[in-house]
Amino acid sequence: MLKKYNRTLITSALPYANGPIHIGHLAGVYVPSDIYTRYLRLKGEEVIHVCGSDEHGVPITLKAKKEGITPQQVVDRYHDLNKKAFADFGIAFDIYSRTSNKIHHETASEFFKTLYDKGIFEEHTTEQFFDPQANQFLADRYITGTCPHCNNERAYGDQCEACGTSLNATDLINPKSAITGNTPQLKETKHWYLPLNKDEDFFKQWILTDHKDWKTNVYGQCKSWIDMGLQPRAVSRDLDWGVPVPVEGAEGKVLYVWFDAPIGYISATKELTPDWEKYWKSEDTRMIHFIGKDNIVFHCIIFPSMLKAEGSYILPENVPANEFLNLENDKISTSRNWAVWLHEYLEDFPQKQDVLRYVLTANAPEAKDNDFTWKDFQARNNNELVGVYGNFINRTIVLTHKYFEGKVPELNELNQQDREALFEIANLKLEVEKNIETFHFKEALRSFMALARVGNKYLAETEPWKLIKTDENKVKTILNICLQISANLAILSEPFIPFSSKSLKEMLNLSKATWSDAGNTNLLAVGHLLGEGKLLFAKIEDAEVEAQIQKLLDTKKNNELSASKAEPSKPNISFEEFQKMDIRIGKILEAEKLPKTKKLLKLLVDTGIDKRTVVSGIAEYFKPEEIIGKQVSILVNLAPRDIKGIQSQGMILMAENADGELVFVSPAKAVNNGSAIS
Ligand code: MF3
Ligand code: ZN
Repeated sequence: MLKKYNRTLITSALPYANGPIHIGHLAGVYVPSDIYTRYLRLKGEEVIHVCGSDEHGVPITLKAKKEGITPQQVVDRYHDLNKKAFADFGIAFDIYSRTSNKIHHETASEFFKTLYDKGIFEEHTTEQFFDPQANQFLADRYITGTCPHCNNERAYGDQCEACGTSLNATDLINPKSAITGNTPQLKETKHWYLPLNKDEDFFKQWILTDHKDWKTNVYGQCKSWIDMGLQPRAVSRDLDWGVPVPVEGAEGKVLYVWFDAPIGYISATKELTPDWEKYWKSEDTRMIHFIGKDNIVFHCIIFPSMLKAEGSYILPENVPANEFLNLENDKISTSRNWAVWLHEYLEDFPQKQDVLRYVLTANAPEAKDNDFTWKDFQARNNNELVGVYGNFINRTIVLTHKYFEGKVPELNELNQQDREALFEIANLKLEVEKNIETFHFKEALRSFMALARVGNKYLAETEPWKLIKTDENKVKTILNICLQISANLAILSEPFIPFSSKSLKEMLNLSKATWSDAGNTNLLAVGHLLGEGKLLFAKIEDAEVEAQIQKLLDTKKNNELSASKAEPSKPNISFEEFQKMDIRIGKILEAEKLPKTKKLLKLLVDTGIDKRTVVSGIAEYFKPEEIIGKQVSILVNLAPRDIKGIQSQGMILMAENADGELVFVSPAKAVNNGSAIS
């Protein structure tokens, strides 16, 4: 690859500080950006990787309102939690900043002011939704309603998550305030707009012509935006949480969160180094944005338009956005608690960061949405990390200790098989490199694992444990080759699984370990003393993944239960009124399906008073033979009714479960038929 830059600025999307980090975040953004950063660092390039919490925006104020705390309290909680989670997983940020801090408010404010003074913005007064009861304008997620494109009833004022369309609140059908549930009114308000329409020709050239190299999913989304025609976009909101709009006559208005958040990359860089301008303002810096697919237009169109309007900043060279990761066939969702949270994962699988990093890379949603399943997690750990990679390393190190006192033996005469194994060291290093540089991390991981497979196969075929009795010289050659492969794996694995890379380097006592050392078939000199051997990976048992699957099943159940909200209570009645109802425990003696009906069973019930016929609409839930002998509650003084030609004398009491099935209301212990419920 031709090098025409001197440094790289890597940004990873600033996650909202309104919830913990989950595997979807990791797979889509932070593992790829970390692999890339570590790779460049290993190569000795000048690189910084900036990130931080996105602490403005309506989801945060909504959460604060719901929990009765301040927005600052919400973001303080998640900023610390998320910062720690990233550190625990070895995500190689140079800084994890936050947008509620002073340096960011100043930077974002100045940025707006510069554009304002240059006369970039258009000012428009429009009618926007207003909730008189809450006495506030309803920006973005403060409004919900039906999506005009896909009819999803839970679309937000800024976006429909079901079909991905970006919306204006006034597009919604049947809009409702998220605060009070009221239908909002329209009220006039003034805002500042970024005239994206004026940049249409620029974007046609810069993206559609000059950046055909971008990923297909990214290019495609940009193209469809540009083809639809770019519109001026409001960059302020009527809210009291955010960066205040720094001009006169803007009381009660803040910068739109998508205006201030990407400027957070700049403020984070400022916080990191006084030399920040060389990263943002020199043409020999290459900027790469790592994001998820829902962030594409903001990073490819809106932010570049802002940077270009300001005039002194560079634009991104690439935006390798990923698609989404699903979990066990369902969309990951913070509000439905359908996720694997990083901090919980580490409680259940302590020190197994690399396993998750490995599985998420192997399964990365690079070109399409992908699914994470616990079974796949277990299989990849047991078959690939333990079965291939760990097995190869372990046998190599154990045998070297056993036969040669832990010292690298010499390389003797080579046969074809030896030469082929050695050839793959340099060959697969190039493959890993090429794939990382083109953002094909899944493929890069596969190339790295291919070298582990080469080693494992070579060892299995040469069987040094058999040869040792007859041909020690050959065994020396074999283990030398295995050790060179191991040392190369220690380096090549670093971007993907840095924790085990570190332990492997310790086991090999490997001090030379930059990227340019890899590819070398003589990384460990003859006589070099190895460190102590340890197991790199351990098997994950069925019970461990079953517990995780059970946890998700419980979540599903809980969600269903809370979805079926109880009806409000009926108006009060007097005790006398209650006493008019005569409810008894009775036993079902006979049950049969009523012909030509779907729902009805004809029952004979022993009420203690008599034996009577009752017709009940429960045939969908019970087979007649299952319920004979059951004690149930029956209202015995309900006036007899004629149902399908049969006189029904009373009513069996039923309740409905979360799945909408009817269940009997039966006594907790057997009682006499006829005993009254009172
Ligand atoms: N908080 C946004 C999200 O989670 C991402 C913001 S990226 C930035 O979707 F560029 F605005 F910082
Ligand atoms: Zn929709």
